[in-house]
Amino acid sequence: MKKFFFLSSVVVLLIACSPKGGKTTATTTPAVNPMEAQLAAAKTKYPDATTDQLKKGTIVYYGEACTRCHGAKEITNFSAEELPGIIDNMARKAKISVEEKDAVLKYVMGVRLASK
Ligand code: HEC
Repeated sequence: MKKFFFLSSVVVLLIACSPKGGKTTATTTPAVNPMEAQLAAAKTKYPDATTDQLKKGTIVYYGEACTRCHGAKEITNFSAEELPGIIDNMARKAKISVEEKDAVLKYVMGVRLASK
């Protein structure tokens, strides 16, 4: 009987300590880094979104391509429903690449959805 208890506590310990992958860590640890919160939010819409894409999107959004006609717009002034259409339209005006547009879209959606 003693042996049984010993074995079962070893099993419990193993289960409690086994890594469950990055996903579990992300949901149990509060996102303190804003980029992390934005990435988690962006992934709810675009599961393939990466930190690199959000970084690239930030650079495009605040860079020359998107600010030469107007200042950087306040993203949270627009709804998550209208942003994809706006970005489509603006990507055409800015003549950015498909990759850049994809990055900007993921970035703005991450910001928008994380701000709720
Ligand atoms: C060639 C000039 C030009 C470039 C480059 C440009 N925009 Fe715009 N943008 C405009 C004009 C003009 C408006 C306002 C009229 C409209 O909605 O078309 C606008 C409006 C916006 C709005 C507000 C939309 C609304 O419905 O009020 C957002 C957000 C925006 N731009 C983001 C971007 C982003 C992101 C980029 C880079 C991918 C970009 N813009 C590049 C000219 C530009």
